[in-house]
Amino acid sequence: MSNIDNELIVKAAEYIYRAKNLIVFTGAGMSADSGIPTFRGEDGLWNRYRPEDLATLDAFLSDPVKVWRWYLWRISRLKSVKPHKGYNVLSRWYRIGILKYVITQNVDGLFIESGIDKVIELHGNILRARCTSCRYSSPIDKLDRSSLPIICPRCYGLMRPDVVWFGEPLNPSILDKAYQLARESDVMLVIGTSGVVYPAAYIPYIAKESGSKVIEINVEESMITEISDIFIGLRAAEALTYIDKYLSRYR
Ligand code: APR
Repeated sequence: MSNIDNELIVKAAEYIYRAKNLIVFTGAGMSADSGIPTFRGEDGLWNRYRPEDLATLDAFLSDPVKVWRWYLWRISRLKSVKPHKGYNVLSRWYRIGILKYVITQNVDGLFIESGIDKVIELHGNILRARCTSCRYSSPIDKLDRSSLPIICPRCYGLMRPDVVWFGEPLNPSILDKAYQLARESDVMLVIGTSGVVYPAAYIPYIAKESGSKVIEINVEESMITEISDIFIGLRAAEALTYIDKYLSRYR
């Protein structure tokens, strides 16, 4: 780690130690170190697949089997995935009261798996499905997946992945809660997002406008970097581990 990175890590650790209301906001880069592909960047999912073919309501209604096959493939990859050491750091900060809430764009459920239960999943969770007719909701592994598309066990309607697709609105009460947390934060730690998808990308800006210190961890600059007080150009697992090492000196 360079001397500059080291200075930034120390500064970030001081902000986090003094924070009264630390909120973490993450994107796909937070899960990259667990082996889950991001969406943009060199090996991003949207470089290999067209989102309009797989991540829109129109795509689903025109070919629900193809969309279910893609989501079940993504879910199958999750089975072998574990939260990396960066998740374990955040989970410990949550347990000892340093971290108050996580707002994530990710749908992989890794924060819940890491033991953090105050998580807002802005874009839903691919481990759950819901009925397009009666809104029945269920963990996918409790549904009959022997034939596709998955049918609602209650009304025999079409089940869909419980995620927010492009062109769909986010749940207004979930979004309001996320905006409120951003306004009430005094430090926002932004990890692994390109900051190009709205309305989620407003969240760090709302925190900044409310007077929060914004710390960004990303392997390259993003649309959030312009408002970050500290930019740490390291992988999430690495940066969080380094910050935690300095934090332990205060404890
Ligand atoms: N550590 C930290 N950051 C990383 C790492 C890593 N190991 N690997 C990649 N990144 C960064 C990339 O530099 C990029 O800025 O993570 C970011 C991932 O950006 P995207 O792939 O655009 O993912 P995200 O910002 O979460 O996308 C937002 O777009 O397609 C929709 O619904 C989808 O929630 C997603 C939304």
